[in-house]
Amino acid sequence: MKKRIAIFASGSGSNAQKIMEHFKKHLDAEVVIVLTNNPEAYVLQRADNFEIPSHIFDKNEFYKTNFVVEILKNLQIDLIVLAGFMWLIPENLLKAFPNKIINIHPALLPKYGGKGMYGDRVHHAVIDAKEEESGITIHFVDENFDEGEIIHQSRFRIEAGDDLEMIKFKGQQLEHLHYPKVVEQLLKKMKS
Ligand code: GAR
Repeated sequence: MKKRIAIFASGSGSNAQKIMEHFKKHLDAEVVIVLTNNPEAYVLQRADNFEIPSHIFDKNEFYKTNFVVEILKNLQIDLIVLAGFMWLIPENLLKAFPNKIINIHPALLPKYGGKGMYGDRVHHAVIDAKEEESGITIHFVDENFDEGEIIHQSRFRIEAGDDLEMIKFKGQQLEHLHYPKVVEQLLKKMKS
């Protein structure tokens, strides 16, 4: 049986797009659902374009009920991929999918992570600190923001004159290149 992926995203979903593209005609794995906390998220349109079902939940459902866990269990999900998902993962979900939830972060963790560190804020912090390099981190998810065992990092140089847009672009290129591959490698390692 093909391995089954669920993607969680809160916004545009460009990483979700790359993962859906990568696994569209894949023999060993498929994206079976996209979940979001944001009814306006563009990722919903992207999921539609791939004819992948989606589910929107609110805070109460996510944190006070077991409904999301039940959806994922019923779908026999093997790996949960957070792609720009901005809420902390509740304990019931962590317990139901131990070592099966991963996240991507647009910096070289443990630097520039944690609560409130997302999107442009991360890159602004990197610029303010006059870093000479930045990068991306893919890691297992635990009960804290942007912590958990690191699976993959790639880095790029920040050249003199690189502005926010350039740094964002360089990071996004790396995310789009590596996230689908890391997902594939992880799934390969899992026992069937
Ligand atoms: C990505 O850059 C991802 O690393 C970041 O959100 C962006 C989502 O973009 N995640 C975090 O900052 C998590 N702390 P996308 O919606 O275009 O994939």
